[in-house]
Amino acid sequence: MTQDELKQAVAEAALAHVPEGEIIGVGTGSTANFFIDGLGRMRDRIKGAVASSEGSATRLAALGIPLFDLNEIESLSVYVDGADEIDAQLCMIKGGGAALTREKIVAAVAQRFVCICDASKKVPVLGRFPLPVEVIPMARMQVARALVALGGRPVWREGVVTDNGNVILDVHGLSITDPVGLELQINQIVGVVTNGLFAARPADVLLLGTANGVQTLKRD
Ligand code: A5P
Repeated sequence: MTQDELKQAVAEAALAHVPEGEIIGVGTGSTANFFIDGLGRMRDRIKGAVASSEGSATRLAALGIPLFDLNEIESLSVYVDGADEIDAQLCMIKGGGAALTREKIVAAVAQRFVCICDASKKVPVLGRFPLPVEVIPMARMQVARALVALGGRPVWREGVVTDNGNVILDVHGLSITDPVGLELQINQIVGVVTNGLFAARPADVLLLGTANGVQTLKRD
């Protein structure tokens, strides 16, 4: 199977985790796009969606799925999204598509985070994928220096502006043995909006697309 076929398979499997009549939290990226397409086929069975990016909002709206502002909602039963890397504890690196901040906000409101990935994303230790950090533009160099002090090699994702008007630093060279600790530490740097470690609030369920079918892994 191709990587796209694996992504499509996990996206289809995630539809079974969508509760009828509710508002769903929807992620961003190529895997999430397959999920959105599937959601379009069952749009009459859900109330609507909260999107984690302008891109996903546009795709949802094009399929006739009503969009809700997160401020109108106290809680979502489920949030479905992809990841750039995920470990055995279901901690993740996200933000390859620069949507990490809104993704983390929508995930924070959800009772259940269902992560959908192809098998290439499952890793023993996070950090081979450069860790995205969203930064207030005027703080870019100050934050970069602080990230170097933490042992990383930050690279400015030039030309990319997030949906929130900020910039992204991709931090190379980290071997992340304490994802929760590093997530909190990076968020303490003045000028950081958020970072792409989803460890303090990891996924609850992982639907992993493999050559042998979709595997379901749950957090202990
Ligand atoms: C978007 O900012 C990311 O967090 C995506 O969820 C992540 O990059 C996975 O994207 P793909 O599904 O395209 O691999």
